[in-house]
Amino acid sequence: MTEPPPKPTREIAPYELRAASEVDEQDIERLYDEVFGPGRFAKTAERLREGNQRIEAACFVASDAGGLVGSVQFWPLMIGGRPGGVLLGPLGIAPRRRGDGIAFKLMEAGIAVCAERGDLAVILVGDEPYYARAGFAKTEAGRFQMPGPVDERRILVRELNAKAGSLNGALSVPRATRRTS
Ligand SMILES: CC(C)(COP(=O)(O)OP(=O)(O)OC[C@H]1O[C@@H](n2cnc3c(N)ncnc32)[C@H](O)[C@@H]1OP(=O)(O)O)[C@@H](O)C(=O)NCCC(=O)NCCS
Repeated sequence: MTEPPPKPTREIAPYELRAASEVDEQDIERLYDEVFGPGRFAKTAERLREGNQRIEAACFVASDAGGLVGSVQFWPLMIGGRPGGVLLGPLGIAPRRRGDGIAFKLMEAGIAVCAERGDLAVILVGDEPYYARAGFAKTEAGRFQMPGPVDERRILVRELNAKAGSLNGALSVPRATRRTS
């Protein structure tokens, strides 16, 4: 049997992937503003970030000679009153570096940290055709409830552990991580 021809490989300009730190904060906000515009704080998923505290170890950035080009963040979630859920987002890549596979690398790095921590499932609101390539899938209708309006077909989950199957219910911010200010 003849082998299929090798896929043409394209030269990807170098970039660095690393854990996000405090010094990246302004650049990350600038990138998210550029990518999502001012409407980003109106999204329902934002209700699960307000008053929440990021899982710092799982947040990654990518940068190249021109500066910060990608960022992904992860947030702890209660699911039906039980811990073990994680919200992925925002995930944003600077327009000039899209299609270089950076988003997948950022997601994989963060999800590996979540799995290592023992988190059970990562949830996001996004386009299924894209996130399916990172192991996310739609779940049965009504399994998770967001704290506001959202197209339910865009609620996607990647289970990290067999115990995740029993998780269902309202998604909420863990009390222990709520900021008082
Ligand atoms: C979506 C996004 C994060 C992808 O980043 P990226 O680093 O370019 O992604 P990758 O290089 O890993 O993957 C690119 C591939 O995904 C595809 N893709 C991108 N967005 C897609 C979408 N919404 N639906 C289906 N496929 C999509 C691209 O066409 C490309 O396909 P190819 O590999 O066959 O050429 C980036 O385009 C972005 O920041 N977009 C604006 C913000 C956004 O939509 N964020 C996610 C929602 S929370």
